[in-house]
Amino acid sequence: MKSSGFAGFAGGLTPTTGVALRMKRYARPILVTGGAGFIGSNFVLHWISQNHGQVINLDLLTYAGNLCNLAPIEGNPDHVFVQGDICNRRLVDQLLAEHRPSAVVHFAAESHVDRSILGPEAFLRTNIQGTFHLLEATRAYLATLEVDARAEFRFLHVSTDEVYGTLGPNDPSFHENTPFAPNSPYAASKAASDHLVRAWVHTYKLPALITNCSNNYGPLQFPEKLLPLMINNAISGKPLPVYGDGRQVRDWLFVVDHCRAIETVLEKGKIGETYNVGGGNQQANIDVVHMVCDLLDELVPDSPHKLHRQLIRFVEDRPGHDRRYAIDAHKLETELGWRPQETFATGLRKTVQWYLNNRAWMEEVASGAYQNWVNANYGQRGAAGRAPAASKGAR
Ligand code: NAD
Ligand code: DAU
Repeated sequence: MKSSGFAGFAGGLTPTTGVALRMKRYARPILVTGGAGFIGSNFVLHWISQNHGQVINLDLLTYAGNLCNLAPIEGNPDHVFVQGDICNRRLVDQLLAEHRPSAVVHFAAESHVDRSILGPEAFLRTNIQGTFHLLEATRAYLATLEVDARAEFRFLHVSTDEVYGTLGPNDPSFHENTPFAPNSPYAASKAASDHLVRAWVHTYKLPALITNCSNNYGPLQFPEKLLPLMINNAISGKPLPVYGDGRQVRDWLFVVDHCRAIETVLEKGKIGETYNVGGGNQQANIDVVHMVCDLLDELVPDSPHKLHRQLIRFVEDRPGHDRRYAIDAHKLETELGWRPQETFATGLRKTVQWYLNNRAWMEEVASGAYQNWVNANYGQRGAAGRAPAASKGAR
């Protein structure tokens, strides 16, 4: 594994207080898919920091997967990394037979909406077929287990709030019974995978659970997503491309809080149930970008790019752009006792500081093919964009 000068982050490898510490060390390993990506690697680091037991980490290492994310656990016997494809049924069968995990936690996916608009096929393959293969491999594996091990086993499918579609300004937040209405190829592929999981529970009694989470932010996120992209561009004095009018609303959750939610659902969730996960923190994109700019003004007082808000440019909107997401996480909170531990103010400050402390990580992921993506996604959006009106944009 390459080392990247990765500086770690608060809340990742440091055992924390609360629900997590009272949880068990699992006798058997768990199989995590996509554990070199953003949320998956945060989850693996968190799981091992909590001494929950061994993780078998299956990840294809697409452009979004990065072994450097796992550098803090290099050489740790609780982490076994396997580079491979969830669509490779023989490999998945072999891993299940060899390691006999007590759970599968399924993160692996193509995860970026803009990429799904420019090239949907990979999304159908990984998110739909990949989930299908994993479900079938798990079903065959369960048939080989003794009654007790079978009773203990869980399949946790990590999904998104985007399956529910979009909300108007006064609509109530998404709850677990909100009808699916996916609007992007990414959202449609995730909705299809959720339906497969549901069908495998219903038809084959597969002991699965689903989590549908809102937008995550935090360390180790690939800079195609809003927050790391804005932080990276602002640090380098590049334009900050805000789609449309920037008034689209997302419900932001710090990634370690999502990891804790998954940990909680694995431990206490009811088979066949869906749990919505969210931060109760709705923000318009332009406000989030302003907060990032202001934090950078404060944390890098000698930056030549101050005031960073001057870098904001309004560019052509995302086709079919969902206007608002908001999650009602009441079920997870009241039935399983989960609560987010970070506020947006504390989480965002930690996040911006992490990217400032880990410039080598960012430089490595933002080299090579990343530039092709930037050209493909932003090249036709009106490269220069429109600067905000003085009264709105600058202080
Ligand atoms: P990511 O794109 O950062 O990571 C995806 C990981 O999956 C990468 O490491 C990649 O190499 C791996 N992968 C891709 N195709 C694979 C394949 N065929 N076989 C094995 N591995 C493969 O994604 P993320 O943001 O960490 O999201 C993880 C999961 O959480 C996804 O299922 C996503 O839909 C869901 N989710 C994400 C968010 C968010 O805000 N990022 C919110 C809710 C739910
Ligand atoms: O809601 C959960 C979803 O959140 C996850 O399922 C997805 O995997 C994850 O990518 C994320 O999807 P979004 O499309 O909401 O995330 P993204 O970071 O791409 O964009 C967030 C918002 O910011 C969205 O309204 C589009 C806008 N945006 C994004 C980029 C990359 C911009 O205005 N400019 C940009 O350059």
